[in-house]
Amino acid sequence: MSQPVKPASRPDKVSLWRYMRLFRADILSAQPAKLYRAWMAEFRTPFFRSYMINDPALIDLVLKERPDDFPKSERIGAGLRPLLGNSVFLTNGETWKRQRRIIDPAFEGGRLRESFAAMHAAGQAAVARLAPLADGQPQDIEPETSHAAADVIFRTLFSIPINDQVATEVFDEFRRYQRSQPILNLAAFVPGPRWMPRFFKSDTRRTAQRIRALITGLTQDRLTAIAAGHAPDDLATKIMTTADPETGETFDLDEMVDQVAIFFLAGHETSAAALAWTLYLLALNPDWQDRVATEARDWDGGFATLSSLHGTRDVFREALRLYPPVPMMVRQTTTPEVFRDRPVRPGSQVVLSPWHLHRQTRIWDRPDDFDPARWQTKDGKAQQRLAYMPFSAGPRVCTGAGFAMLEGVVILAQLLRAYQFELVPDRLPVPVAHLTVRTRSGMWLRIKQRND
Ligand code: HEM
Repeated sequence: MSQPVKPASRPDKVSLWRYMRLFRADILSAQPAKLYRAWMAEFRTPFFRSYMINDPALIDLVLKERPDDFPKSERIGAGLRPLLGNSVFLTNGETWKRQRRIIDPAFEGGRLRESFAAMHAAGQAAVARLAPLADGQPQDIEPETSHAAADVIFRTLFSIPINDQVATEVFDEFRRYQRSQPILNLAAFVPGPRWMPRFFKSDTRRTAQRIRALITGLTQDRLTAIAAGHAPDDLATKIMTTADPETGETFDLDEMVDQVAIFFLAGHETSAAALAWTLYLLALNPDWQDRVATEARDWDGGFATLSSLHGTRDVFREALRLYPPVPMMVRQTTTPEVFRDRPVRPGSQVVLSPWHLHRQTRIWDRPDDFDPARWQTKDGKAQQRLAYMPFSAGPRVCTGAGFAMLEGVVILAQLLRAYQFELVPDRLPVPVAHLTVRTRSGMWLRIKQRND
């Protein structure tokens, strides 16, 4: 078995200037190889310090034990605020807690059953869209997985498919937004005062305004339908009609628009990346591809029998380990701290890196190998408990984690039942971290009809 692609690391010592240049090109290859075995690394910049923590005990401290003392970094919000406003992804403190109390019930286990039918329909539409591409010629699969994941969000949130005119417009504008501002999440590494504008291009704000106008229209229509008593029973209706159990308030129009924007962004970019990397890993490992295809063929397509897709689930988990869609997350300290015997000042940036944790050489066996079987072994399960967080952890864990696991398995099963995916050896993907872990120039695979 050949090893899945991994970005080259930089030499251990480089000047700050070189580091900045590397960083702007790609955060993954801007890091030295030693970070894969370090428990912690300190970066000093003229304006602040940042600490990448790769030690499970420290990560627990920040995410689970004292999360209120480590709010989301203010440096990260700047680039996203024009689009996301006061969305749950950016807020902190009491506002964030109130928003989660309203949003979380919509994603509880019981509601997943209701989202399943919409996911399945999106999967069928993706299978149909791939049919003309299944001619054995190299195809970039990333736009296809993006399309499928966006379709899932629109169908589950607003009960409309992606070929609805407004949905298509939102999808296109989001693509433009990402192109205008490709590196969003990473300001914590970049030395500069907080007010320094970073990575902003002139059309970013205009695109954000257009997206928000479209989402406002959808949300306003839904408010009207709820008032008239004929709204569909989907995630949007559920969230818009849920009152905060503590204050009795529901979201107003603006706050709901903020939340829809983040569901769309957090929900479709991430799943699209995860699906594309999973297809690549399956193309690299034909044995596992056959196994997933067999499970898919034997599955009756129902919700009740989903547990039969256990190999598919392990493959998807393993893909989220090797290519975690959200490569890094950033918090900041609010009080003096001591991390691994080192004093840490208030206002420091704390970087949590699923990318590095998932390949921590002191924890994982053969960290760079694709081995879905590890999810069923005792050691693999222990390593997972210690060092696996594709959806983050603690109270600020991804609201869509259960949703995304279901979506990944359902869409993969449908795609693998219909098609076979093969590598294009001279066009292997190169992972780069944009908003999510994507490829430098596409995810090229050959798609063929499956005849068995
Ligand atoms: C494979 C797919 C996904 C992955 C890997 C993923 C990963 C993550 C991660 C790591 C975070 C934490 C970010 C941070 O703390 O800085 C997060 C937050 C979030 N995700 Fe996901 N996500 C996925 C899919 C989804 C979906 C489908 C939805 C919604 C439909 C969603 C909604 C959110 C929201 C609202 C937050 C903010 C939560 C908060 O800050 O309280 N995600 N996600």
